[in-house]
Amino acid sequence: MSDYSFSPTGEKFQLPEQDDYSKEFERLKELVNRQRALGREIVLVMGIGFVGAVMAAVVADAQDGKGNPTKFVIGMQRPSTRSFWKIPLINRGLSPISTEDPEVALMIERCVNKKKTLTATFTYDALKLADVVIVDVQCDYLKESLGNVRSGQTEMKALEESFEIIAQNISPQTLVLIETTVAPGTTEQIAYPIIKKMFRKRSIESDPVLAHSYERVMPGKNYVASIRDFWRVCSGVNEEATRRVVKFLNEVLNTEKFPLTVLDKPIESETAKIVENSFRATILAFLDEWSLFAEHNGVDLIKVINAIKVRPTHSNMIFPGPGIGGYCLPKDGGLGLWAYRHIHGFEDDIFKITPLAIDINDTRALHVAQLTRDALRNMGRPIASAEILVLGASYREDVGDTRYSGSELIVRRLTEMGAELRAHDPYVLHWWEFEKQDEYPASSQGLKRFFRGQERLKDLRVEQDLEKALHGIDAVIFAVRHQPYLTLDPDEVVNNAGGPIAVIDCFGILNDDKIKRYFELGCEVKGLGRGHVKRIKDQVRDRRE
Ligand SMILES: NC(=O)c1ccc[n+]([C@@H]2O[C@H](COP(=O)([O-])OP(=O)(O)OC[C@H]3O[C@@H](n4cnc5c(N)ncnc54)[C@H](O)[C@@H]3O)[C@@H](O)[C@H]2O)c1
Repeated sequence: MSDYSFSPTGEKFQLPEQDDYSKEFERLKELVNRQRALGREIVLVMGIGFVGAVMAAVVADAQDGKGNPTKFVIGMQRPSTRSFWKIPLINRGLSPISTEDPEVALMIERCVNKKKTLTATFTYDALKLADVVIVDVQCDYLKESLGNVRSGQTEMKALEESFEIIAQNISPQTLVLIETTVAPGTTEQIAYPIIKKMFRKRSIESDPVLAHSYERVMPGKNYVASIRDFWRVCSGVNEEATRRVVKFLNEVLNTEKFPLTVLDKPIESETAKIVENSFRATILAFLDEWSLFAEHNGVDLIKVINAIKVRPTHSNMIFPGPGIGGYCLPKDGGLGLWAYRHIHGFEDDIFKITPLAIDINDTRALHVAQLTRDALRNMGRPIASAEILVLGASYREDVGDTRYSGSELIVRRLTEMGAELRAHDPYVLHWWEFEKQDEYPASSQGLKRFFRGQERLKDLRVEQDLEKALHGIDAVIFAVRHQPYLTLDPDEVVNNAGGPIAVIDCFGILNDDKIKRYFELGCEVKGLGRGHVKRIKDQVRDRRE
């Protein structure tokens, strides 16, 4: 089993063997020689995940004023069973990411097959060929308990390993650009010494050309534009590194329209990322208590937020949905707390709001299980053995990324309470957090350990046929604002289900007309922050009487 990597569609790829490495390096050298002759700079992107794969394509698509490509990109990925499949897929010109943004697939296809400016590989030797290395590997924050970010710690292994390997292989003048969201201080206090030490071992006298510039990518409808046509912050460890990173970013991003912000030191760029995301996490967490207030007092928080957002100073207020998932917001503040103590050596506890926000966000989804239980109870049905369909597995709309999604917690809590769960998501073929729950997101680090009775979730499969998924359910949970869910017709839902059901709206997906119609059809409706549904229910009942 361990010699194969499976793509999400089930295609099986054999992992490379010893002999394959030298052949692969020869292939790359030939390609690079040809590309250098065309005057192109060689850029290696390390880690072709959600960020790296699209960043690699954006760089490979860059061109000069005459329309000629200026870069040749090698996407480099560890040949792990979990990720190796991304390499052969990209080399066919196929995107490893499922998203609503058509430009992702088009761009990868164009760069691999037409422009021939993008290839993917598994060998670290490729680093020897690079003029620029972009680091897009993950830096995880491992939590020890649910709703307590303070008890966690930064998992630096993958990143530290990458710095070592980079330092062993690159040429002295290679620009190393760290895009990974890191604990502030990492570039100067962890990466720089690791690389410099290895340089000295290799008898390289010059200092590393090292810089940080964080990604603001928003997977979803504007995936590509959120990398290419968006503002960037950057900083180098010295003048030379700053000059090189500014030059590089100006060549690959649309900095004319979206100018760069250059900060004095990498710790400022690193801190900017953590503060930016903690700010977002805090606004979302703040609304959790008002969401409960709304539910208890007949208020529709969705309408309240829309009313407030009209005021330009408050236009970025957003409804929190069933918890705040994704790879970034649940962890980034934790990286800051951890850095303060473990990189910078402070003992005092200055952080109050940042950890509190993350803890609130991490447990918000559990309330959905309570609403589901209560809605079913109002219909005289027990939660145990109830057939419940969760619509949306990913953490946000229009993308197939399930990392730390609120939906996962909903499924886990309801399973613990004895319900039978089903899932549907147009962008997710496999919900690995369940199918391979002992390995995802990392061995014994999954959310499974915080709940009981989770074993049977290994058999949970994401249904692609919505009609089939609805058949015979007792409750439906609208968990993600995926496009197809916004237009679902209550009559069709109830018809497919085979009778009245409990309907739980986690994201303001149902307008008042739909809520009313569900009540008319004999359903029970509840929603996060949607206290006004009771009023609609009373109106429907009064009319009936
Ligand atoms: N996903 C987002 O929306 C987003 C947004 C902004 C910033 N970021 C940040 O970008 C970084 C990457 O995130 P992601 O979502 O792309 O993660 P990811 O897990 O999808 O991708 C990381 C990739 O790096 C590979 N990798 C790990 N170690 C490696 C090594 N030594 N050599 C080569 N490849 C290696 C992994 O196998 C994986 O494919 C993180 O720091 C994240 O916080 C992510």
